[in-house]
Amino acid sequence: EYSKGVNGLEKVLLREVRGSSAEVYLYGGQVTSWKNEYGEELLFLSSKATFKSPKAIRGGIPICFPQFGTLGSLEQHGFARNRFWRIDQDPLPFPTNSGNKAFIDLILKPSEEDSKIWPHRYEFRLRVTLGPGGDLMLTSRIRNTNTDGKSFTFTFAYHSYLAVTDISEVRVEGLETRDYLDNSKDRERFTEQGDAITFESEVDKVYLGTPTKIAILDHERKRTFVLRKDGLPDAVVWNPWDKKAKAIPDFGDDEYKHMLCVQAACVETPITLKPGEEWRGRQELSAVPSSYCSGQ
Ligand code: BG6
Repeated sequence: EYSKGVNGLEKVLLREVRGSSAEVYLYGGQVTSWKNEYGEELLFLSSKATFKSPKAIRGGIPICFPQFGTLGSLEQHGFARNRFWRIDQDPLPFPTNSGNKAFIDLILKPSEEDSKIWPHRYEFRLRVTLGPGGDLMLTSRIRNTNTDGKSFTFTFAYHSYLAVTDISEVRVEGLETRDYLDNSKDRERFTEQGDAITFESEVDKVYLGTPTKIAILDHERKRTFVLRKDGLPDAVVWNPWDKKAKAIPDFGDDEYKHMLCVQAACVETPITLKPGEEWRGRQELSAVPSSYCSGQ
């Protein structure tokens, strides 16, 4: 279902039979909303999000490509999140191409301007799928289509802003005892101690070589997000907390209380593709009542 969203930007609405839905903007190839069958919003979107090029939309799931953060000469998090993607009219078949699922295929290719800042040819195909249980799946396939014989290298993240009721009551499981790079301390390397991760100040960490399943427990809402990933060894966890929040123009001063970014990512060891080669990376999010999880 195609329509015009904020500021006339094109968007696609995916609906699943039981009532869950997702909204995808072509600007950024960005999921901006994901609702469960009760119509509850599961992603955070800032009330100050601008929906105006060249600024990326603050919330949902921006895509960081071909650079995560400041790890290179490009703008922070690369440019995929502020480009206009197209609907892929001719998608290559996916192995997961099955019925009973709502999905949309998007594609991003470099413009001439883009080739000046990142001199490579590529086809980036993104499939956003809403599964029968309301699960939200993002699959990226990036192909090197250089004709000059050159490889390229990139880092990547699905910068997912999860909506939480109260960040002080949130725990993340699956990252304890893992090594991480602390972005707020010049990317110094530490090892996470102790139990599940909780939040009481700014967090900006890249966990390295994590398990493929991470759980984010929203105690207040009695909801657990389960993030599963494939092809993306790292996981970024970010909450700006009060001081940083004030410094971000398109983010409300108190909004940090109601969001947590957990991002399937590939940061530490960049991906290299030779001409003709393709990389795939997948992130799947589900949201379930917490009681279901404790029984698992
Ligand atoms: C996180 C980074 O992924 O994104 C943080 O680790 C950064 O360092 C944050 O501040 C937000 O970035 P931006 O460019 O969307 O403001």
